[in-house]
Amino acid sequence: MASHNAENSEQKFLSQPHLLGIKYLTAADIRLILHSAAQFKEVLQRPIKKVPSLRDLTIVNLFFENSTRTRISFELAEKRLSADIINFSASASSVNKGETLLDTINNILAMKVDMVVMRHPQAGAAMFLSQHISASIVNAGDGTHEHPTQALLDAFSLQEILGNLSGKKIAIIGDIAHSRVALSNIFCLQKLGVKVRICGPATLIPRYLEDLGVEISHNIDDTLQWCDAANVLRIQLERQHIRYFPSSREYTQYFGVNKARLDRLEKKIVIMHPGPINRGVEIDSDVADSQQSIILQQVENGVAVRMAVLYLLAERLRKH
Ligand code: NCD
Repeated sequence: MASHNAENSEQKFLSQPHLLGIKYLTAADIRLILHSAAQFKEVLQRPIKKVPSLRDLTIVNLFFENSTRTRISFELAEKRLSADIINFSASASSVNKGETLLDTINNILAMKVDMVVMRHPQAGAAMFLSQHISASIVNAGDGTHEHPTQALLDAFSLQEILGNLSGKKIAIIGDIAHSRVALSNIFCLQKLGVKVRICGPATLIPRYLEDLGVEISHNIDDTLQWCDAANVLRIQLERQHIRYFPSSREYTQYFGVNKARLDRLEKKIVIMHPGPINRGVEIDSDVADSQQSIILQQVENGVAVRMAVLYLLAERLRKH
């Protein structure tokens, strides 16, 4: 583990009762989470990968949108912390009978649930809930808005490889407009002092991004040469209701991360992807499966990072 994690951190509690987005966290909050995640990662190396920290809490996982990694990762994190858990998926619920989000949640909370982990297709859904209920909310992805635990696990994984991230150069490549991973990563990396560059077709980069102080490029080769690590994002066809580029083949030709492109660089960069990967579209298999890729380390670290988030929110709940 990078040494600077050890220098952390006077702060013992998160400044926020919820994790709605990285936007609402301070740099000290982020460092506290990353520091705790390192400790939980150590727990996960033990033969008995379990601690009793959340034995007194009940958590509901509410997934109104498809998920593989995030859902399993949260569930595992909760089990490793000994929480009682309930899993809810929208397709098997009374949501289909016309129940509102607030009614669904209030009915669940009436059964004495302490924390809600929620993925929802609407941006702002987690914020809305936090204004109406007393349980602690963790945003597991709200539409195209934020995916805070993904950004935290990305930062954690980058720190393991690159050490202190301050001054490092990270590129985020692909469908920025439809990606909640992009916005959360931008906020998180900037708060850690990283230089962030966004790269993709102009149609997939929202204009407001310039106001966030990131560099913008449409040149993939120049961007790969510039960065220490490239976070390659999926083309989110399911959220694209018009055509943003002529064809997948053309996208791959201009923006696909492939071995030929990496071989032309003067250095070895770190390759990341939050998954699910569209092999052969935004990234080729020989890159995704290469030594440079930390895609599976990201998944592994997700459990420790989510344990840290849940643990720190629980500590705050108990304190207040
Ligand atoms: C991402 C998501 O759902 O936002 N996946 C994930 O959580 N690991 C990215 C994506 O869907 O492309």
